[in-house]
Amino acid sequence: MHWWQTGIIYQIYPRSFQDSSNANGIADGVGDLNGIIRRLDYLQSLHIGAIWISPIFPSPMHDFGYDVADYCDIHPLFGTLADFDRLLAEAHARGLRVILDLVPNHTSEEHAWFVESRSSRDNPRRDYYIWRDPAPGDGPPETRLPNNWQTHFGGVAWTYDAPTGQFYMHQFHRSQPELNYRHPEVLPAMLDNMRFWLDRGVDGFRVDVIWLMLKDAELRDEPPNPDAAPDARPFDRIQHIYTGDVAGIHDIIRQMRAVLDEYDERMMVGEIYLPLERLMTYYGNGDECHMPFNFQLIGLPWDARVIGDYIRAYEGALPPGGWPNWVLGNHDQHRIATRVGPAQARVAQMLLLTLRGTPTCYYGDEIGMEDVAIPFERCMDPAALQQPETYEIWGRDPERTPMQWDASPNAGFTTPEATPWLPLAADYATRNVAAQENDPTSLLSLYRALAALRRAEPALNRGAIEVIDLGIEGVLAYRRTAEGGDGFLVVLNFGEEMHELNLHQALGGQATELVLSTELIPSRVVTEGIMAMNGNEGVILRLRQWG
Ligand code: NOJ
Repeated sequence: MHWWQTGIIYQIYPRSFQDSSNANGIADGVGDLNGIIRRLDYLQSLHIGAIWISPIFPSPMHDFGYDVADYCDIHPLFGTLADFDRLLAEAHARGLRVILDLVPNHTSEEHAWFVESRSSRDNPRRDYYIWRDPAPGDGPPETRLPNNWQTHFGGVAWTYDAPTGQFYMHQFHRSQPELNYRHPEVLPAMLDNMRFWLDRGVDGFRVDVIWLMLKDAELRDEPPNPDAAPDARPFDRIQHIYTGDVAGIHDIIRQMRAVLDEYDERMMVGEIYLPLERLMTYYGNGDECHMPFNFQLIGLPWDARVIGDYIRAYEGALPPGGWPNWVLGNHDQHRIATRVGPAQARVAQMLLLTLRGTPTCYYGDEIGMEDVAIPFERCMDPAALQQPETYEIWGRDPERTPMQWDASPNAGFTTPEATPWLPLAADYATRNVAAQENDPTSLLSLYRALAALRRAEPALNRGAIEVIDLGIEGVLAYRRTAEGGDGFLVVLNFGEEMHELNLHQALGGQATELVLSTELIPSRVVTEGIMAMNGNEGVILRLRQWG
C-alpha cells in the first residue's frame, strides 16, 4: 500500500489558513507558508497523511493563484522558495506528505510564454496558446467569434487581441489563456515544471482540470444540450464534447505519469468532473492518474439510499487495481456543514473517513465551518463577479473564508489590526479550534477519533467494503473487512428518527461492540445484538473475527 492510499489528504486554501507576519512584522490578512508551518503540529494532530496546498506560485491573482505567472517560484505574498523548502522539511519530519496544485491547462496572461505569444503572430511561442482568426463575415472583428464555446465563469471562451487581430481561447477567466498541447514543445515544458518541484521533494500534484487540457483540433462548435433548462446559462446550453475529455488526452496524462514514475512514491490526483464511466478511464491501465477525484458526494442528494447505491456503482466501476477516493468539499463547492446542516455534518465526516479509499478533507470542515454570506460589494471570486445574477448560488467566496482558530479578534487567523482578505464567519468566537479542542464531544474530537481509528485499523484504511441493506429507511450501512483482523460495521442515520438496530439479523450472529458514535458517548450497550440509534447519529461497531 502507498501513503496516498492509506492516508487522509487535507486541502489547505493557503490564503485562508494562517497569516504570519512578514519580515517587517506586519500581517497582511492573507495566509502564507510560514503560517502553515506554524500550524503543522495541529495538522499532525488530525492524523492526516498529506496536505494539498492550492496554488502558491507567482500570479496576478485574478483567480487567486489558478492563474500562474511562473510555475517554478513562490508568490511573495506566500513567502519564498526557502520558506517552501522549510515547510516541506518540517512537514516530512512530522510524517506529512506535501501535494502541490499543478495548473497545466492554462497560464496567467502574465506568464512569460503568453507575453511572448501575444507579442506578434510570428513569435516562436505564438502557438503555445490557441489563437484563431475572427470568423468570416461582416461586422467588427471582435464580434466574429471563432466558434460557440463558452467559459465556466460565464461569457464566451474567446478574447480578441486587437494588436495581432486574433482571438485567444480560455475556458475560465480571460486572464487565463489556455495552452495548446498540440504544440510539440508545450508538454515537455510543463513536465519540466513538474520535475522542478519533484526534485525539491514534493510528494505529488493535484492537477487542475486535467480532463480539459486538450481541445478539438478543428475547434468545432459544441452541439446543443437537449437537457438544458430554458433559463440555463449559455455554458449549460451546450454539450462540452470538444473542450473536455477529447481523444488524445490520455496520451498527455500518461506522459505526466511517466515523470512521476521517474521518482519514488509520488502521485497525482486529477480534478475531473465527468460521469462515472468516463471518469474511470482516467486511471488508464494503472499508467494515468493515481486517482481521478470522485466528487459525487458533493453532487448527489444527501440520501442514504442514493449514496448506498452510488457506493456500489462506484466500486463496481473501478478498473482492476484502481484505488477509490472520496471528497466532501473543496474551494469551489459550498461547505458540507452548510449543505447538510450541522447535525449531519458529523455523519458526513464518519462517512468520509470510513469509506474505502482515500478521503480528501477541506480545511475547516473538521470543525464544521459553514459558508459565510459575503455581500456582493466584498465579492472576490472572479467567476461570481462575472455572473452577478447567480452570485448567491454559485459564488465561491463563502467556502473560502479564514480558518477559525480561536476566539480572539480575527480568530487567530491574522493579527487583530489586519483586515482578513475575506470576512470571518460571525460564529468564529464559538466555532473554533481552541474551543473544540477542549470539548470532548466536539466535531473536532470526533474527527480526530475517526482519523485515528482509520489509521490504526487495516479494515478501515485498506479493507473491503460491502453495502448492507438493513431495511431501515434513511439508514446507510456497510461492512469493512480485512483479512486476518477485526471488521467493522458502519451505520449512518441520515434522518432525525430513532431506530432500533437488530444487528444479529443483519450480521448473522456476530458479536459486536460499539467503537465510536458520532455523539462520542461511550456508554451505549449492545445487548443480544440490539442497539438503539439516535436520529442524526452514526456508529461504528466492531465485528469480532468470525470463522
Ligand atoms: C478548478 C479550480 O479548482 C478552480 O478554483 C479554478 O477557478 C479553475 N479550475 C480554473 O483554474
